[in-house]
Amino acid sequence: MPHRRRRAAILVALLAVLSASGLPGLGASRPAVTARSGMVVSSDPIASQVGVEVLQRGGTAVDAAVAVSFALAVVLPSAGNLGGGGFLLHRDGQTGAATLIDFRETAPARATRDMFLGADGEPVRDRSRDGYLAVAVPGTVAGLEAAHQRYGLLPWRRLVGPAIGLARRGVPVSRTLARDLEREAARLARFPASAAIFLPNGKPLGEGDQLRQPDLARTLGQIARHGAAAFYGGPIADAIDADMRAHGGIVTKADLAAYRPRVRRPITGTYGEYEILVAPPPSSGGIVLLEILNILEPYDLAGTGTLSSKTIHLMTEAERRAYADRAALLGDPDFFPVPVDALISKQYALRRGADIVPGRATPSSAVGPGNPLADRPTRAALSAESPDTTHFAVVDRWRNIVAFTTTLNDRFGCKAVVGGTGIVLNDEMDDFSTKPGAPNLYNLVGGEANAIAPGKRPLSSMCPTIVLKDARPYLVLGTPGGATIITSVAQVFLNLVEHGMALQEAVDAPRVHHQWLPDRIDVEERALPEDVRSALEAMGHKVAVREPIGDFQAIRIDAARGLLEGASDPRGSGEPRGY
Ligand code: DON
Repeated sequence: MPHRRRRAAILVALLAVLSASGLPGLGASRPAVTARSGMVVSSDPIASQVGVEVLQRGGTAVDAAVAVSFALAVVLPSAGNLGGGGFLLHRDGQTGAATLIDFRETAPARATRDMFLGADGEPVRDRSRDGYLAVAVPGTVAGLEAAHQRYGLLPWRRLVGPAIGLARRGVPVSRTLARDLEREAARLARFPASAAIFLPNGKPLGEGDQLRQPDLARTLGQIARHGAAAFYGGPIADAIDADMRAHGGIVTKADLAAYRPRVRRPITGTYGEYEILVAPPPSSGGIVLLEILNILEPYDLAGTGTLSSKTIHLMTEAERRAYADRAALLGDPDFFPVPVDALISKQYALRRGADIVPGRATPSSAVGPGNPLADRPTRAALSAESPDTTHFAVVDRWRNIVAFTTTLNDRFGCKAVVGGTGIVLNDEMDDFSTKPGAPNLYNLVGGEANAIAPGKRPLSSMCPTIVLKDARPYLVLGTPGGATIITSVAQVFLNLVEHGMALQEAVDAPRVHHQWLPDRIDVEERALPEDVRSALEAMGHKVAVREPIGDFQAIRIDAARGLLEGASDPRGSGEPRGY
């Protein structure tokens, strides 16, 4: 489409100017979208459009979220999914009540702690990432149904309907999907049912090619008619069970029948005048984000400025400490006693940040997990211990809010499609700690708290976030990116509240990331001017350039003017849609 290409060219040119100068704050890649009644921001314009049409027909934010989620399973099958899981953070516009629907996958009943280790006791390369053993019991369809039962107004069928049409008629492959297909072609090729859909004629579909998914349309039709029961008990469960048996997987019909989403209370924290609502465990996102922000709060970040060596140093030191805690102390709260309140307390942050030295890096080797329960020994110990996800957000006319992050883990999950269903299966088992200290896909390490056990949820970094100002909703934030999700949310938040950036500018700004181990600051290409980089190195930091970080989606609510502002990340193909 010439129009789309022209738009992409302008964007690339603007980004080149922004990154060539190495200086943030030169303005936004494009104007944010504004609207009064409702707003959807997602990684795909077709999915955003599906969502806004649901809002226009009188649907709630959750109605739109259900429709967007099913649409993303069709238009962005590398991340949007039926065969994965995630977290839906909801805030009720009338009562202010906030709820988290946890539809994270669970380890199947036959999973064992050492299932990914070889005879030598070491993790077998790719066993927890590629193929059927990597699959955890999917939660998405059950999560969507649970959310709809609580907060939906429109009939379920009408929300699944648009995705059925998209799968049957076909959609043009987006730039993001084309990139994912290109990267994963060789791995997808090993699974005939996947290759038949995504690599017709042996080659990955390219941008603009038509992607038709008739099997997925049929599967969605069954879900439209019979709800989650079709997935967890009906013919779809039979197909998954049979496919698993045929390919050495261990997820059974009984596992599917036993799957339950959990309704949890979100975690709340503060930063200055802002109240922050985030996901609790089994995501680490909320706790780690709040710990980072709590440690940073006493510093004058507005004074040291965005992306200066001083600010990056402080952020790195806060991140180093919070991710060290993540590795040892966080896991599924139904299996491991996570000291949530202690970890997110301001007192703990003061103690945890007390050994940060201005101008000098603390090596990660000198930083272990902290002891948030100060006087009590923690039970946890680390005895020895790109990808794909998608985030979207919806605000409706009643100012109900949904922040929604969902994933198959890696791009196209474990790469296998269940024959005859069009369902791409996750590889979420890799988010467990396969062995204490052994790095996963995102180089994250863990121990006992995140060890594999039947029915347990693997620790996540997903971080759907709602921020309030003066007790009124103000920001809805989130992104994919594995371990980088949390630091991206922290950065965009600080860009907005400390560095005074406009919404789109805050999303566009170059990203930097540190996660304790490996001990290095990952930076996007040309994110840092040379003098900032050498100042960081002089402090003892290692700096490494990496590929673009995340695909951020953000909404800002201007309550006084009754305006909604939406911004999608120029790193991806997403676009906001409002009305
Ligand atoms: O739950 C998690 O933290 C990971 N499975 C998320 C993966 C992800 O964000 C990949 N996206 N780029």
